[in-house]
Amino acid sequence: MPTSSSNRIAVYPGSFDPATNGHLDVIGRASGLFDELIVAVGRNGGKNPLFSPDERVALLREVCDDRWPNVRVTIFDGLLVEFAKAEGARALIKGLRAVSDFEYEFQMALANRHLAPDLETLFLMTSAEHLYLSSSIVKEIARLGGDVSALVPNTVAHRLLEKLDPATPQILRAE
Ligand code: PNS
Repeated sequence: MPTSSSNRIAVYPGSFDPATNGHLDVIGRASGLFDELIVAVGRNGGKNPLFSPDERVALLREVCDDRWPNVRVTIFDGLLVEFAKAEGARALIKGLRAVSDFEYEFQMALANRHLAPDLETLFLMTSAEHLYLSSSIVKEIARLGGDVSALVPNTVAHRLLEKLDPATPQILRAE
C-alpha cells in the first residue's frame, strides 16, 4: 500500500522459525490496528534456525498475502529500531504469552526505548489457545513425529514435514 506521513505503520519483529498460529493471531489483530503492518524477519534471529531467512519470509508471505492486504513481510538486519525508523514506523508489536516472556520482552522494550524514545513497544496478549505455543515447541513436536497441523498454517506443516523427513536429502533439509 502507498505510504504517507499520516499512515500509521507498525513493525512486528521476530525469528518466525517457523511462523505458528500464535504469530498469525498477533499479525491479524495488529493489522487491524494500523494502516500498515510490517512483519520483520530477523536475519540473525533464533539459535540454530531450521529455516533460512528467505524460507521464513516465503512461508509468511504465503499465509499473509491473500489474507491481510496491509501486511508486508520482509527481512531485516542490524538494529530493529533503525529498521523501524527507516520504515517510518511508530510502534513495535510484540506478542506476550506468559510471565516467562515478560522479563526478556521488558528488557528489550526498555533497551529499544533507550535507543529510540519515539518508538513505542506495544504488547498484544496471546489468545488463550496459543498460550503454550512457540516455534521451538512446534519444531520439537514435528521432529519427534507428532502432529502439528493444529498449531501452524498448513503450508508450514507441509514444509516442516519435508524438512524433517529422513528421506529428504540432508542438503535440502539444511538449506
Ligand atoms: O522471535 P524472537 O526470537 O523473539 O525475535 C527476536 C528479535 C528478532 C525480535 C530480536 O532478536 C531483535 O530485535 N533483533 C534485532 C537486534 C536488535 O535490535 N537488538 C537490540 C534489541 S534490545
